[in-house]
Amino acid sequence: MPPNTAAWITGPNASPLEVKKAPYPSPGPKDLIVQTAAVAINPLEYKIQDYNPPIGGRAIQYPTILGSDMAGTIVEIGSDVTACKVGERIMAHAHGVSIGQPAKSAFQLFVVVPESFATLVPEGIELEAATVLPLACDTAMAGLFVPNQLGLSTANLGDTESAPPPPGSALLVWGGSSSVGCCAIQLAHAAGYEVYTLASVRNHELCRSIGATAVFDHADPDVEDSIVAALEGKTMAGALDCIVDKDKTVPVCARILARTSGRKKLVTVLAPPEIDMPEGVETQRCELLISPLASLTLDFDKR
Ligand SMILES: NC(=O)c1ccc[n+]([C@@H]2O[C@H](COP(=O)([O-])OP(=O)(O)OC[C@H]3O[C@@H](n4cnc5c(N)ncnc54)[C@H](OP(=O)(O)O)[C@@H]3O)[C@@H](O)[C@H]2O)c1
Repeated sequence: MPPNTAAWITGPNASPLEVKKAPYPSPGPKDLIVQTAAVAINPLEYKIQDYNPPIGGRAIQYPTILGSDMAGTIVEIGSDVTACKVGERIMAHAHGVSIGQPAKSAFQLFVVVPESFATLVPEGIELEAATVLPLACDTAMAGLFVPNQLGLSTANLGDTESAPPPPGSALLVWGGSSSVGCCAIQLAHAAGYEVYTLASVRNHELCRSIGATAVFDHADPDVEDSIVAALEGKTMAGALDCIVDKDKTVPVCARILARTSGRKKLVTVLAPPEIDMPEGVETQRCELLISPLASLTLDFDKR
């Protein structure tokens, strides 16, 4: 059994992380053991280190191991694993912190990954590049497609049971250049929606290049009116706020939904602030009860 090593966080707000031995994990029937090649640092990790918030409704038990985004090579599989083989390269959303199981966190050499939290990395994509996607992609997929969130149509993504969105269906994404925003633009565009997004001017071309129909500067004082005018004649499928600022992004998204036609639901990637909302506008936090990642077949050429 090879030695395992992890970057431990030894207690609340402890810094720096300490690199020490960790138990070599064994897989459950539907688990993979993945040798980590690359990890990404998600905002979740610094927020845990700085603020020690309860995760999944529970206080974090220390010492523990952080890390949500990882990519590596499968070295072992459980008896019931069907979709992956030893030696394949995967990226995974490691959710050990959410469930209080350090063996399932990314900042270690050998990680237990449930098969359903991983997807294969296409040839030609470096593991360092793949590792930035998992949690951002899962968050965007959950917010956009899970039925009790925005519940957008997946007909154009291969789901033969649902109807495609009618022409002129539009989605508002605040923070199109952020990690979650970039995933959301690509997924919603592929699903057949027109995507109206906000980003700094320097990132407008990026947002357009990945499928945004129109990009607006969030620093423009008239941005709300400009977006409402651009959405004339469109039917809103809702909005996804990838930034969540109680003084700006949430109230402006809500007002845009209130002033346009269609669905008036705003999904936020963090808990929505307790502020007065325009009549008829509903907010909901994007919740990751499962990882939609494994249902995603990545096609980096078509995006
Ligand atoms: N990454 C994830 O997997 C994930 C998952 C769930 C929740 N979150 C949460 O989402 C938030 C963003 O995280 P991230 O990882 O997506 O960040 P990120 O990839 O570092 O994106 C940050 C970008 O967001 C844009 N931005 C910042 N403030 C903005 C504002 N007020 N209006 C519009 N755009 C703004 C900026 O781009 P411009 O220069 O173009 O404005 C900035 O470069 C964090 O609070 C994080 O905890 C992240």
